[in-house]
Amino acid sequence: MRDTKSILLAGGAGYIGSHICVELLNRDNKYKVIVVDNFSNSNPKVLDRIKDITGKDVKFYEIDTRSNELEKVFKENKIDAVIDLAAYKAVGDSVKNPLKYYNNNLISQMNMLLLMKKYSVNNFVFSSSATVYGEVKADELPINENHPTSTTNPYGSTKLMGEQILQDCSISDPDFNCIVLRYFNPIGAHESGKIGEEAIGIPANVMPYITKVAIGELPYLNIFGNDYDTIDGTGVRDYIHVVDLAKGHVKALERLLNNRIGIEYFNLGAGKGFSVLELIHAFSRAYGKQIEYKIVDRRPGDAAIIYADPSKAKDILNWQVEYSLDDMCRDSWNWQSKNPNGYNI
Ligand code: UD1
Repeated sequence: MRDTKSILLAGGAGYIGSHICVELLNRDNKYKVIVVDNFSNSNPKVLDRIKDITGKDVKFYEIDTRSNELEKVFKENKIDAVIDLAAYKAVGDSVKNPLKYYNNNLISQMNMLLLMKKYSVNNFVFSSSATVYGEVKADELPINENHPTSTTNPYGSTKLMGEQILQDCSISDPDFNCIVLRYFNPIGAHESGKIGEEAIGIPANVMPYITKVAIGELPYLNIFGNDYDTIDGTGVRDYIHVVDLAKGHVKALERLLNNRIGIEYFNLGAGKGFSVLELIHAFSRAYGKQIEYKIVDRRPGDAAIIYADPSKAKDILNWQVEYSLDDMCRDSWNWQSKNPNGYNI
């Protein structure tokens, strides 16, 4: 019988975490999933939806990963690896409330790492972001993992500091085994339409904004600038289907469970850039109607164009994206149209 590994998924009820959960549970009985989440940016109903999709239960703890209660999870379970996504992620909010971000993102990570050390859990997958590449110039594209790191906002600083902490742990402890995943722009949803991104209030990111325009909750998309040096003047990003992203985590986990690697960094992106207008056109095709938009001023801090060189993940993790931009738009719309109020139906 195959040895089942227990994976602690912190932030597992969130947009990306829920998709990782499904991917782990769908791998026969290879993984048992223990989700820890405080629902600060997620909904308890996601756990039922995960069961609907997979037919399997996760073990769940409603715990803030900063709290002492987290130790209970380590006491009650023999954990083989941790995937840590428990963090705040809104760039604009982080500029307004930097301490909220440093407090939540760094203290939760420290608490997790200290407990991992205490309970001899060595395998760690860290959710990082392409934001750690800071300001990127057009002649530096595509960005590979050796690109110098810097940040432009407190959220990005928490990710970069998080990476630094892991680097130091790896230098000090030869048993510490870690993969840092730098996400580009995740969009899309599980093909079932049962889980997806639940944006509360006015979304900061482009795809949840577009889907709210599609359901009539917002009148049109504001495009932040059409005078960039790009194909049509609008910003270009590397959009990645959230299911591809989730599969990247499973590959990272497999590598950690089978090898002792110290610390490694991987971009998870498609390796292709699409402009905001290209995204709107692709979404409008899936939607069957044109998404209305207006051109407004540039958003401060936005880069013109950024996309990944994902070849390291292909070579070492044997991972590459399978979904196209049209697939991402179809699945985002499928989720939003079936759940106009997110998990509250
Ligand atoms: C942002 C964050 C990044 C974070 C990611 C996902 C920055 C610098 N980066 O990426 O750290 O990991 O979100 O949470 O903020 N756009 C519009 N109208 C909108 C919203 C966006 O035109 O209403 C445009 C933007 O100008 C950009 C593209 O759409 O060209 C993508 O924007 P967004 O979805 O916010 O992602 P990023 O800014 O790339």
